[in-house]
Amino acid sequence: SIYFYLKKRMGSKLCKNTSSRLRLQMEPPSDGSHQVCVTVESLDEKGNTVKGPYAVTIHVEDINDNPPEFDQAKYTGVVRQNSRPGKPFMYIHATDRDDPTTPHAQLTYSILHHFPNPYTEMLFQIDNITGAISPSKMGSHYLDPQKQDTFTLVVTVKDMAGMTMNAFTSSADVIITVKESLWKAPATIRIQENSTQVHPVNISQVHSNEPDVIYDLFEKEKLPRFPFSIDQNGVIYVTEPLDREEKDTYTFFVVTKDKEGELVDKPLHIHVIVEDINDNPPVCKQAVTVIEVQENEGGGSNIGTLFATDMDEEDTLNSRLQFKIQSQVPAVPASNLFFIQQDTGILQLTSHSLNKRIASNYSLKVLVTDAVFQTICDVQIHVIDINDQIPIFEKSDYHNVTVAENLPVGTVILEIQATDGDEPATGSSYIIYQVKEGDPDNTFIIETDIETNRGFVKINKALDFETAPVYNLVINATNPEPLVPGVQYNSSSLTLFKVFVTNVDEPPVFHKTVYKGEVSEDIPVNTLVMMVEAYDPEGDTVRYSLEGDMRKWLRIDSITGQIHTASTLDREQQEMYTVDVVASELKNAAQKSKATLILHLIDVNDNPPQLAMDYPPFFCHPLSGGEKALIQATDADEQLYYSTFSFSLVDYMNTRNNWEISKVNATHAYLSPKHANFEEKVYNVPVIINDNGKPPLERKVNLEVNICKCSSEMSCFIEVQREHFWPTTSQAIGILIGVLLII
Ligand SMILES: *[C@@H]1O[C@H](CO)[C@@H](O)[C@H](O)[C@H]1NC(C)=O
Ligand SMILES: *[C@@H]1O[C@H](CO)[C@@H](O)[C@H](O)[C@H]1NC(C)=O
Ligand SMILES: *[C@@H]1O[C@H](CO)[C@@H](O)[C@H](O)[C@H]1NC(C)=O
Ligand SMILES: *[C@@H]1O[C@H](CO)[C@@H](O)[C@H](O)[C@H]1NC(C)=O
Repeated sequence: SIYFYLKKRMGSKLCKNTSSRLRLQMEPPSDGSHQVCVTVESLDEKGNTVKGPYAVTIHVEDINDNPPEFDQAKYTGVVRQNSRPGKPFMYIHATDRDDPTTPHAQLTYSILHHFPNPYTEMLFQIDNITGAISPSKMGSHYLDPQKQDTFTLVVTVKDMAGMTMNAFTSSADVIITVKESLWKAPATIRIQENSTQVHPVNISQVHSNEPDVIYDLFEKEKLPRFPFSIDQNGVIYVTEPLDREEKDTYTFFVVTKDKEGELVDKPLHIHVIVEDINDNPPVCKQAVTVIEVQENEGGGSNIGTLFATDMDEEDTLNSRLQFKIQSQVPAVPASNLFFIQQDTGILQLTSHSLNKRIASNYSLKVLVTDAVFQTICDVQIHVIDINDQIPIFEKSDYHNVTVAENLPVGTVILEIQATDGDEPATGSSYIIYQVKEGDPDNTFIIETDIETNRGFVKINKALDFETAPVYNLVINATNPEPLVPGVQYNSSSLTLFKVFVTNVDEPPVFHKTVYKGEVSEDIPVNTLVMMVEAYDPEGDTVRYSLEGDMRKWLRIDSITGQIHTASTLDREQQEMYTVDVVASELKNAAQKSKATLILHLIDVNDNPPQLAMDYPPFFCHPLSGGEKALIQATDADEQLYYSTFSFSLVDYMNTRNNWEISKVNATHAYLSPKHANFEEKVYNVPVIINDNGKPPLERKVNLEVNICKCSSEMSCFIEVQREHFWPTTSQAIGILIGVLLII
């Protein structure tokens, strides 16, 4: 039912002439549309219609007169330890009887108290719209039934979308029980390689905290084959025999998904170690290991090593190798001329008994074993002439060669030759050439032709006339086999050789390949920002220019290399400005090279702050005290410069008496009326916002604060204009509607 207190009003205001009356006929709203249709007529004393009837539609506006109500006084819920943050485990719900299309019934939920609250942040969170309660990030991490298994939350619901202080609030208790997580990663799983079991083999099982989830695995590393699977009970299988020698550990994740494919639990890390078994035989490093021995070597001499490997796990007995000589052919002058160290494979002579005329080659079969497998490795021992001749150079001085500095690496610049009188094709006669002096940087390298012992001097690193125009090389020749006692290398094993490097015209060279600079974006035009320098290796004069100066921000002095700004810079357009600097030879401009200039523009506080609000604040008349409105400021500069705005009122007496402003955080402040005696009108409140930058910039803004009758808390009510003279009937109706609306 809707009641109108019309009569009194009519008597006092509308109907000065008491002999006339207004008659109202009202049709009640047929649906929930909050609309009433009224017919109005004015009657004379006899009850005859003077004017009208007029149809009047009255919109009945909702006011916020119903507090929200929870559908339960107390809620209970269960959460598992380690649940995913933000995944709801329960919902609360409240209703509000006010008009659902207005803020009066727009509800927002929040957590008021959290008992106990052992950490800096709450362990639970609530979705302010849906009422879904879920663990917070903190809660996902720290909830632990061992430490605390029950929590009591006091949750509140506010209407008015929680936007005003005058909203109604109700609260309810939520009792939450924490249960241990079932969702736990199994300990590292160990699987023996090369297993003969029937696959797939069950290796572990995981359990989700949630019912009806879909288990899945996903690989952390991309593998050519992924030999694991999981079934819908969370049982993990290995699908085929593994090979440790191929891959010795696997890491992957188990995930659970709901029907929509959303992750349910945090992915679990599964770690698998493949355990070694001895399934690999020893392998000889070479098909035949060839060892040379000079025939005068004494007993016990270490003559070489037989190398073998085993693919099984290192430093375990599975890969432990042992060596034993099985046979020696020929067995002359004795059958046990050689000895092999059982655990190292080092071969030694048992005595001083080798003689080329008796036997120059020996073939050994060496048995190499691990705990399971055996392999035979072949060793050939060549008895060679003693090394009693030194290499002798054909010339003690190769004089000189002249080469251009741009000759490519690898070019042979000279051939040299020494000869050795020892047995050909053995380590006693093979010659190794080395640059002994005059080449500290290894600019040259010498290779030997093993057939002819001829040496080839090659360029090993790029030559540079400007740094080293001349090399005085001393080259020596030695044998890989040691010389017999009493023989020494002498000056006949040395030769001399000079290299003259000639100059080639090269392009200019910058001192740096990248020049980096930082400048404030507000520097004046014509400020020096950088000086680049290049030199020409041949000493020609260098000229500078710029390429890629897209914004025409810079110019370079072609002679000095000084770079100045050509126009004003603006960080807000481009923060890192990159251009190429070109240096070219004056005489031959085609000889040029480039360096990169990277200019980092540093922000300057060149934008004053401004208000960031769509509509100005308003307060509902009459004020009840304690109202406040949020105001927000923003700034186009980098964060640095507006991290802390300050807000203040302009120091006018009026302003100071009526208003106060208080900071909320870096970007927001509250504006609140100081008293309740405000008229229904628009007040100008001059506010100064300062961005506290360097230099600080401030802006004065006139906030037009509307103190108005409110039709709802969200908007100002606009009243029908009043006239000073006696109203006509239609005007009277306008006034009537205004009055009704206020009621
Ligand atoms: C509701 O939550 C959202 C997102 O968390 C937030 O942006 C909004 O300000 C909240 N509303 C209220 C009234 O607290
Ligand atoms: C498995 O072991 C057998 C003998 O133990 C071996 O012959 C085979 O090569 C092994 N397989 C792999 C993949 O290592
Ligand atoms: C010994 O070895 C050398 C070099 O491999 C070979 O030329 C020669 O024929 C071998 N002699 C014997 C008797 O095996
Ligand atoms: C170096 O020694 C060899 C013999 O080993 C000899 O023929 C030669 O003359 C010696 N050269 C010099 C310069 O002493």
